[in-house]
Amino acid sequence: MSLSSSSNRDAPFQPLVLLTGASGYVGGRLLPRLEHEPVRVRCLVRNPDKLRDRAAQSTELAQGDVLDFPSLEKALQGVHTAYYLVHLMSGSKDFEHEDRQAARNFAQAAQKNGVQRIIYLGGLGDDADPKLSPHLRSRHEVGHILRESGIETIEFRAGMVVGAGSLSYQLLKSLTDRLPVMLCPLWLKTPTQPIAVDDVLAYLLAARVLPPGDNQIFEIGGAEVVTYSDLIREYARQKGLRRSLIFVPVLTPYLSGLWLALVTPASFEVGRHLIEGLKNPTVVRDSKALDVFAIRPMDVKEAMRHAMADAID
Ligand SMILES: NC(=O)c1ccc[n+]([C@@H]2O[C@H](COP(=O)([O-])OP(=O)(O)OC[C@H]3O[C@@H](n4cnc5c(N)ncnc54)[C@H](OP(=O)(O)O)[C@@H]3O)[C@@H](O)[C@H]2O)c1
Repeated sequence: MSLSSSSNRDAPFQPLVLLTGASGYVGGRLLPRLEHEPVRVRCLVRNPDKLRDRAAQSTELAQGDVLDFPSLEKALQGVHTAYYLVHLMSGSKDFEHEDRQAARNFAQAAQKNGVQRIIYLGGLGDDADPKLSPHLRSRHEVGHILRESGIETIEFRAGMVVGAGSLSYQLLKSLTDRLPVMLCPLWLKTPTQPIAVDDVLAYLLAARVLPPGDNQIFEIGGAEVVTYSDLIREYARQKGLRRSLIFVPVLTPYLSGLWLALVTPASFEVGRHLIEGLKNPTVVRDSKALDVFAIRPMDVKEAMRHAMADAID
């Protein structure tokens, strides 16, 4: 690992926060907000060049990899709070194994360095559901491993994050933009509670300043439960597109993945893992987050409006 930027010398007494996943969707949007907080920020990135133009001068860039324990040990030195916003779904054939290993490495390195709090964003879904997808099960397992470190861990569980650039939103956008008539798999009727990216970021920031306490799992979602087909219809309505959805019972998740790969820019492998998760209901069953935080997430219409205003293509 190498640390770049002279950084942080002006504020030696502010707590040091490590952000992982800063080159990704959620982490990339959290970074500028964290840089406005009274903290010193260090990002763990595999390729610092990806971030150099986007990070503030005062932000340290630590080159490292969650699968490389020594790089984590260094990156976590002196860290008070660490954000874990990483998944290995896109780079790995065996993402469950690698995500498990990465979380173990991170937990152990954080423990060794006396980190006080880990904040993790994972996925909604019911652990007791025998049909829970490997992706969602793996997200829950990562939270479990982080908690086992003994470090106070705050896990948020979210469904689809609505915002320009979020993979799941981009999938929805690509499909709806391109197909006037859609033959739809039945999982498009699965209940879900999407959340706007701004609301997710608000939760992630608020978790940093919670008083010290026990491990917590917060299920977070937007103001309403909808289906994926509702999302397609709402996107089309706001875009002024006429779209017909015809439901057919024959598309397996595997074929659905192929179907998406044909019409969307996302990689087939990631799309398939995400789709396997779409057949699981992802709704908030425990509303504790609304008691603990003053955040009142927006509804789907508003979340979509924000995403479209922010469109990246
Ligand atoms: N987006 C959503 O709709 C959504 C919904 C619910 C929950 N979440 C959760 O939010 C978290 C972040 O998701 P995201 O959508 O922001 O993901 P993303 O855009 O795919 O970003 C993943 C990040 O992980 C990093 N990463 C991958 N392998 C790594 C490794 N070996 N070492 C270090 N970093 C590595 C990537 O860095 P590189 O640039 O080097 O590849 C990237 O910064 C995940 O836990 C996800 O489950 C996301």
